[in-house]
Amino acid sequence: MSKITGFGTYAPEKIVDNHYFEKLIDTNDEWIVTRTGIKTRRVAAEGELTSDMSVKAVENLVSKSGNDVKDVEFIVVCTTSPDQTMPNTASRIQDKLGIESAGCIDIYAACAGFVYGLQIAHGFINSGVYKKVLVVGAEALSRITDFTDRTSCILFGDGAGAAIVEPSEEEHFLAFNSGTESELGHDLYLTRQNKIINGKEAITNGKIVQNGRTVFKWAVGSIPNKIRELVAQANLTLDDIDFIVPHSANLRILEGISKDLNFPMEKIPESVTDHGNTSSASIPLAIEKEVAKGTIKPGMTVLMIGFGGGLTFAGTIVKWS
Ligand code: ACO
Repeated sequence: MSKITGFGTYAPEKIVDNHYFEKLIDTNDEWIVTRTGIKTRRVAAEGELTSDMSVKAVENLVSKSGNDVKDVEFIVVCTTSPDQTMPNTASRIQDKLGIESAGCIDIYAACAGFVYGLQIAHGFINSGVYKKVLVVGAEALSRITDFTDRTSCILFGDGAGAAIVEPSEEEHFLAFNSGTESELGHDLYLTRQNKIINGKEAITNGKIVQNGRTVFKWAVGSIPNKIRELVAQANLTLDDIDFIVPHSANLRILEGISKDLNFPMEKIPESVTDHGNTSSASIPLAIEKEVAKGTIKPGMTVLMIGFGGGLTFAGTIVKWS
């Protein structure tokens, strides 16, 4: 049995408001707020990498929980914007945190990443393979954003969230689900670029390309039923759920989920208004806001569901600890 024993987040200092984009592309603050709910997003400083933001989120976790990370046995980093493909970002974090030896993997599941990471951690802990797993959802999406594409560049932001999962006397993970509609994969993807780095040819990330309307319809049309499935799997009803935390892609998607489930928006934390869409960091950033306010407290039942490029989704219900 397992539970989350530490939780932290990080958002870069630089705040970019919607007016910034009025100078770059044909858009305006009112369109962005009305269509997405986004007012600001945070952008990583020059040279600030996904691994740097991850380390800051882990440091925040350590300062709040007092949980030491030096004995972490396995690190899962969920990202679409790794420092580079090889070595993976998890190994960069291990090095920067001075963790002596840990298994290190990156997983690429876009905005569903963080919940997939929790599922992997739960599996490792409950099978007895490892005793302490660090899960990080971190993104430097500003580096893979096409700032000439007005339909996508206004959406994205940078940030990181981290959780430690360890054995527990009581099971805190009450349900899991996941799935993928790969026939819609071409509606949200990352291009790649060949670059010369240090005189050698290297493949680096390109830019995000998306058919926003298709992704929007898929999310609003299918995620409410995936939430119902999770709740039924845990032998609960929606009345038993204190908070539903979907991926913060667009405030209108969250409103659509709220309406379909007849579940109040006040119980659907979001990070998209202040941070934009931060992909695998969006769920931790939304939870952090409520934890800081004292609305999410230990013992509460929190449902998280990430969804994005794949098109893939992953959900879990957690007894908050
Ligand atoms: N400013 C002004 N007008 C714009 C802008 C802009 N930034 N972008 C698009 N428009 C225009 C369009 O050209 C269109 O004009 P037209 O009617 O003359 O053709 C009009 O606004 C409406 O466009 P739609 O695409 O229908 O707008 P929609 O209401 O669907 O909002 C949005 C677009 C915000 C992208 C929405 O579809 C969305 O949020 N989709 C989900 C995106 C998402 O969550 N992606 C996940 C990716 S994250 C990851 O996995 C890494």
